[in-house]
Amino acid sequence: RTIRRDEYRPPAHTVRRATLTFDLRDEATTVAARLRIARNESGQGVLHLHAATDLEILSLRVDGVETAYERDEETIRVPADKDELLVETVTRLRPAQNTALEGLYRSSGVFCTQCEPEGFRKITPYIDRPDVMAPFTVRIEADRASCPVLLSNGNPIESGDLEDGRHFAVWDDPFPKSAYLFALVAGDLGWVEDHFTTMHGREVTLRIHADRRDLGKLDHAMESLKKSMKWDEDVYGRAYEHDVFNIVAVADFNMGAMENTGLNIFNTKYVLADKEISTDLDYQGVEGVIAHEYFHNWSGNRVTCRDWFQLSLKEGFTVYRDQCFSADQSGAAVQRISDVETLRRAQFPEDAGPTAHPIRPDSYIEINNFYTPTVYEKGAEVVRMLQALLGPEKFRKGTDLYFTRNDGNAVTCDDFVDALQDASGIDLTDFRRWYGQAGTPRLTARTSWDEAARQFEIELTQSTAPTPGQPNKEPLVIPVRTALFGTDGKLLALDAQGTLETVLTLDQPSARFVFENLPSRPIPSLLRGYSAPVRLELDLDAASLAFLAGHDNDPFNRWDAAQQLALRALQAHLTGRADDRALPALLVALRLTLSDPNVDRGLAAAMLELPDEATLALDVDQVAPDALAAAVDHLHETVSRELGDVLLDVYKSCDTNEPIAFDAASIGRRALRVASLQMLMVLPDEHRTALAETQARDAPTMTERMGALRALVDADAPAAAPVLDAFYTRHHGDALTIDKWFALQATARRPEALTRVRELLDHPDFTLGNPNRLRSLVGAYAASNFVGFHRADGEGYRLLADIVLDLDSRNPQVASRLLGPLKQWRRFAEPWREHMRAQLTRIAAKPDLSRDVYETVSKSLA
Ligand code: ARG
Ligand code: ZN
Repeated sequence: RTIRRDEYRPPAHTVRRATLTFDLRDEATTVAARLRIARNESGQGVLHLHAATDLEILSLRVDGVETAYERDEETIRVPADKDELLVETVTRLRPAQNTALEGLYRSSGVFCTQCEPEGFRKITPYIDRPDVMAPFTVRIEADRASCPVLLSNGNPIESGDLEDGRHFAVWDDPFPKSAYLFALVAGDLGWVEDHFTTMHGREVTLRIHADRRDLGKLDHAMESLKKSMKWDEDVYGRAYEHDVFNIVAVADFNMGAMENTGLNIFNTKYVLADKEISTDLDYQGVEGVIAHEYFHNWSGNRVTCRDWFQLSLKEGFTVYRDQCFSADQSGAAVQRISDVETLRRAQFPEDAGPTAHPIRPDSYIEINNFYTPTVYEKGAEVVRMLQALLGPEKFRKGTDLYFTRNDGNAVTCDDFVDALQDASGIDLTDFRRWYGQAGTPRLTARTSWDEAARQFEIELTQSTAPTPGQPNKEPLVIPVRTALFGTDGKLLALDAQGTLETVLTLDQPSARFVFENLPSRPIPSLLRGYSAPVRLELDLDAASLAFLAGHDNDPFNRWDAAQQLALRALQAHLTGRADDRALPALLVALRLTLSDPNVDRGLAAAMLELPDEATLALDVDQVAPDALAAAVDHLHETVSRELGDVLLDVYKSCDTNEPIAFDAASIGRRALRVASLQMLMVLPDEHRTALAETQARDAPTMTERMGALRALVDADAPAAAPVLDAFYTRHHGDALTIDKWFALQATARRPEALTRVRELLDHPDFTLGNPNRLRSLVGAYAASNFVGFHRADGEGYRLLADIVLDLDSRNPQVASRLLGPLKQWRRFAEPWREHMRAQLTRIAAKPDLSRDVYETVSKSLA
């Protein structure tokens, strides 16, 4: 069944107070719920409660009387004639058998929950929608020896012993909250503790819990949490207003983490970090996700979503907030580049495929399928544009108004824009189209120079291709941050006041912008900082792009100019055009960037990471994976050969013998050391291979060791196998590091990777039950190994379909997500296209398909 946004109705009943008692036991858990329910104006004589299809309801009483109810699908209907009633239910759960990891389940023996978006109905019958908010009191009873730690939302108010070695704890969360923010954890966990004093003087106790073996890996998460709390105070004026903040790391988790009020539950991947096992990216991942979940305390929990169509209200805004936080920690330039790379790699294909949807979708079959790069990452870009349109002061006024006006309420994306509009006085009517329109706009820029009049004109034109259900597109409001470079390589003043940068706002299908009184024809730098989530087509020649790639003072545009040159070189190779000027221009710009030690080493490393096949595929009509791979190989080989001398110099210059540090400069040096080695290893010789082998075995950081191992594996060097074995032996038993070992092999850049993936599926450390492990092998293979997965015989696709069919009944959420790469089938040439379609059809034919996978395959094939 399809749920539509325009069918929204306010709830007929609401929950005034929820009191839950959990009796946790190994075989089965009982949940006793007392719900004080009140009828709203629209309420009739029937109370609708959500209850998952297989929820085992042992009893249901209304005002003390056992009551019969009707039940179908996910709803139970209870006769209810009064304005207020007390509904009491008893439900039996089997957490150990819950493989979907939604509702109450066990992870390595620890009881834990995941309720967003609709998991609470798998715990107890309830009005499980975010606009029903209630204060919760939760009593947990469990065996003291196996579950010494008992946690829920809010504050601990009571605890004590019971008979038979059991004990209990009572938690009270007085702030009304939606059921999706409910959480419970019980298990044998260790923890670290710290404190934070808020700007209002409140002393908050911070605890991060994990398996006792991992207690040494929690310091970075704790530091990140304290930084996040301070940052939200400094930048948004938002303080924490509870007494405790708990985080728990669990090994089996469908997503990254969850912002349950006062009790965030995390995938271990985004909590645990230490120097021995974590790369710089891992450290940044922990910092970013800790911040993201903490920021949800205001953008998500205090102000939540009215319905799930509004998901981007909290997710887009919170991603924007965590991106800005991360930029403040380790460098805005590299952060912006990596944010845009994520958008282009994950969101652009989605926006161009069969499941394209606006950041505020209009309909869904399974809401879990809408935790997408569009809702998250494009949603963040939309908030970023609002920030740019308003400017920092008015934007802050707007968010202040948003938080105070809506505190304690469940609201919509329109409420967010209303607050920004009301506080700033800037009319955002047209801008709102971004919320309703899917597809990536194409922005074309044509420039012309009138020598006699000394006028430079930029004509901007926008268009958006149709997406499923949206044949006609309207023009959007697109802010284009712009600067002009003169022939001397310096920025030109754009007006008499000496302004060097301006924002051209395109709100029509097309518009002309004229710059007067310029000394000579300038080189324009458009969409600086990537000021709008569009695909820009520039009419600049290779020489101008090379100038920008070598000199633009906007680091994002500098990087992007190199990307554009590389894409042109790849296209030239694909179409066999002889007069390619892009590749030599790229080489000049890269040489200049690499050899100038004053250029941020992180930026230089990012510039060496040239577009891959998946990125190139976005610009190609009939994707023939082997041709794309050949083009990428040629590009890499040319760079490796032509820049070999400077790459080697740079590689050596990044080997500093300083103590390991995690500041932006050190991270940048390590990134460049890895990137230059990998580029050298495209054309391996004895010397290069020896460097890689030594680094893979002996480098002081995981970043360098993994980077070198990656190079050895991709080069299929004889040393790869023994070094991989050594890696396994060294890290055996550490799940997150063994995930890396699986992923390294699954992403080996060649078609034969399939054979190794098949072997690894039978490895004793492989399991379908752990999402991280599954993603590290099957997910990495399908989503991050273009050459290995897109085999002409279609066997990569078959392997993926086999896994999805197996997984569908156990964990539908993860199964549906793994399918992602197959959604793009229509964009491929034969025979790949037919092979992909065949596997989708095969999956579609399975009886009793989950809603999650059903929606993904049926929309893909439609
Ligand atoms: N709200 C969480 C976050 O982004 C994501 C939880 C999504 N869970 C899911 N099963 N779809 O921080
Ligand atoms: Zn989130």
